[in-house]
Amino acid sequence: MGVFESLRSVVRFERIETDPVERRLARTAGVADLRLIARRRLPRGVFDYIDGAAEDERSLRQNEAAFARVGYRPRVLRGVEKSDLSSSLLGVPLAYPLVLAPTGFTRIADPDGELAVARAAERAGLPYTLSTLGTRSIEEVRSVSEGRLWFQVYVWRDRGLVKDMVERAREARYEALVLTVDTAVSGRRERDVRHGFSLPPSLGPKTFLDGAVHPGWTWSFLRADPIRFANVVGRASADGSTPVTLSEYVSSQFDPALSWRDLEWLRSIWDGAVVLKGVQSVEDARLAAEAGVEAIALSNHGGRQLDGAPAPFDLVAPVADAVGGRVDILCDGGVRRGSDIVKAVAAGATACMAGRAYLYGLGAAGERGVDRVLGWFRDDIARTMALLGVGSIAELDRSVLDVGREGGR
Ligand code: GLV
Repeated sequence: MGVFESLRSVVRFERIETDPVERRLARTAGVADLRLIARRRLPRGVFDYIDGAAEDERSLRQNEAAFARVGYRPRVLRGVEKSDLSSSLLGVPLAYPLVLAPTGFTRIADPDGELAVARAAERAGLPYTLSTLGTRSIEEVRSVSEGRLWFQVYVWRDRGLVKDMVERAREARYEALVLTVDTAVSGRRERDVRHGFSLPPSLGPKTFLDGAVHPGWTWSFLRADPIRFANVVGRASADGSTPVTLSEYVSSQFDPALSWRDLEWLRSIWDGAVVLKGVQSVEDARLAAEAGVEAIALSNHGGRQLDGAPAPFDLVAPVADAVGGRVDILCDGGVRRGSDIVKAVAAGATACMAGRAYLYGLGAAGERGVDRVLGWFRDDIARTMALLGVGSIAELDRSVLDVGREGGR
């Protein structure tokens, strides 16, 4: 055998990938890889708005650490041929236990923004939650998706504005309203303070300099329609046509005196399901169940509001013991793998919500990056269940969890 033949027998030449997005995705194996690509591709201020959290970012780290603290107790030889990932949420079947969380200003990560995420969610068979502070409107998102859509609302000072948005969500056949209650005022996100980050990002000299290092992002940002708070366009001072910092916006627009009465009011103008997002204690979970919401989302806003707030995963078991069976329980914060979702469901959650995970995918590779993340989550859940010896989501319970040792990952 000549040298060339023997070389050919051991070396296979890789096909050269010409599509830049596929090339970028080819060597990624998990959300952490997409985060690093997003960090390279996005201007620093934009990446830090997505990646950052409040003050010392302790809650952000705790959210992930809470999952890592819990390990598994796998069983073997259980004859599980195939795991069934389906479950149900708000009484409707779900492909696997995940909801795409609302995220503000999604178009800063990619020009399609919310439209890309909603399409990916529909393909995956999962609900997508559009944020009030979205950069695509209620109607635009419905026009690209026939999937399950939820709409997130804040308690605005201008209740008329909320009423209009709720009306539009009903018209556009949104399934649920997600009332976020952890934002009486904005958390202090120090990375944003340092960058002087505004929404939309203002194009000062610093941004241009940063843009020169991130030409892909800058080119698509300049070419696309101006980024606005698409759900409130036309409302003077509220639509984001002049750059504002998030904390200025929250303090001028949202009502810091929000109370349980606002939930009652929302109920009076909406007869669909209500998800109360931002519950952070067993006591409030009980009050929410008594108030008759269909679901609660245990959430500290991804660590972006009160630094030091408990990790939602740690609250799942006590909250499920208190109100499980009466309301659906979502767990949001620190979800980076399907294995985290398995842990939350085993502890008593109905499903998880995730925001940053898909934003890293969106910032790294647009819509295909989101598809990639959702595909990984599904495969992770199936693999984890197979390795645990569990055949279906319904069979997941606390017996698979080992809370007594370090070692989730
Ligand atoms: C918006 O809700 C944010 O957390 O930035």
